[in-house]
Amino acid sequence: MRLSAWRPGSKRWALATALALGVLALAGCAQTPQSVLSPAGPVATTELQVISLGFWIMLGVGVVVLGLLLAIIFRFRARKNDDALPEQVEGNTRLEFAWTIIPVLLLAVLAVPTIKDAFAAASPPNPSTALPVTVVGHQWWWEFDYPTLHIVTADEMHIPAGTQVAISLQSVDVIHSFWVPRLAGKLDAVPGRTNSMWLEAAQPGTYAGQCAELCGTSHALMRLSVIADSPSAWSAWVQKMQHPQNTQPTSGAAQAGFKDFSTAGCSACHTIDGTSYKGTLGPNLTNLGLRVGIAADNLANNDANLAKWLANPPAIMPDVDMPNLHLTQQQIADLSAYLEGQK
Ligand code: CUA
Repeated sequence: MRLSAWRPGSKRWALATALALGVLALAGCAQTPQSVLSPAGPVATTELQVISLGFWIMLGVGVVVLGLLLAIIFRFRARKNDDALPEQVEGNTRLEFAWTIIPVLLLAVLAVPTIKDAFAAASPPNPSTALPVTVVGHQWWWEFDYPTLHIVTADEMHIPAGTQVAISLQSVDVIHSFWVPRLAGKLDAVPGRTNSMWLEAAQPGTYAGQCAELCGTSHALMRLSVIADSPSAWSAWVQKMQHPQNTQPTSGAAQAGFKDFSTAGCSACHTIDGTSYKGTLGPNLTNLGLRVGIAADNLANNDANLAKWLANPPAIMPDVDMPNLHLTQQQIADLSAYLEGQK
């Protein structure tokens, strides 16, 4: 292919540019459940204001600097018969003051809300009425511990809509980053320390999030959902989590699954509240049937997906701690009946 066909100004170049701009424009049509540009709570709204302020300042600086650059390139371009060197100048005290002071002032304008909001994002305005949740990062799933409610769950963080949630963020292994873009900015979960942040969902809804710090092979699969409940849905969820049903079934496939849970090895790592199963290496599976997703929120929660997961977890989440237990089809069906029956 002749390279000249791609020169700026050529037809091909124009076509390629149009295509690239079209792709860029169409990217705006995508579903964006994880967009900081559509905040759904007070923390994310405040953060978007800081982002916007920064954006408009940068845009202004860009327009002025690039405008001057283009004007100078045009005004002082080499003309025909322009053989002599232009006048050589060096240094201009006034200009140098100006381009030092203006950026300093702009950065100061940006720094005030940035610092104020960064501190404000660490703890809720009303700590006495906030709901405390300890969020723990694991390779590769999120644990949600509600110390005042004595509930521990994983993958899905239920919260009451319109309530401030005070999050204590920890990690048991490597550095993760907790990020639910429509509710609050990201914060690192660091082994050996507790970081704090807060969030609030203004309206009931499901808000997608995920780990935002490279934490190993399946980092990209370390997802979560925040489910903001209406007052009635919230109290129903709390009631169900505090008083789980069908944890020790006495008949049918669920009873067989209940037994398999210890004989096949599940209980070594998983807890089911209301039973003697108290493993803590993996997610607490109490009331799994209530969850929308499984496998760190990567699969919709249904029998078929649970069977797929139980048959070979590393095939879905590479390097996950949960091994292929080589369960029989019967065991998988029984475990599924047991786990999905808790809701
Ligand atoms: Cu956890 Cu990336």
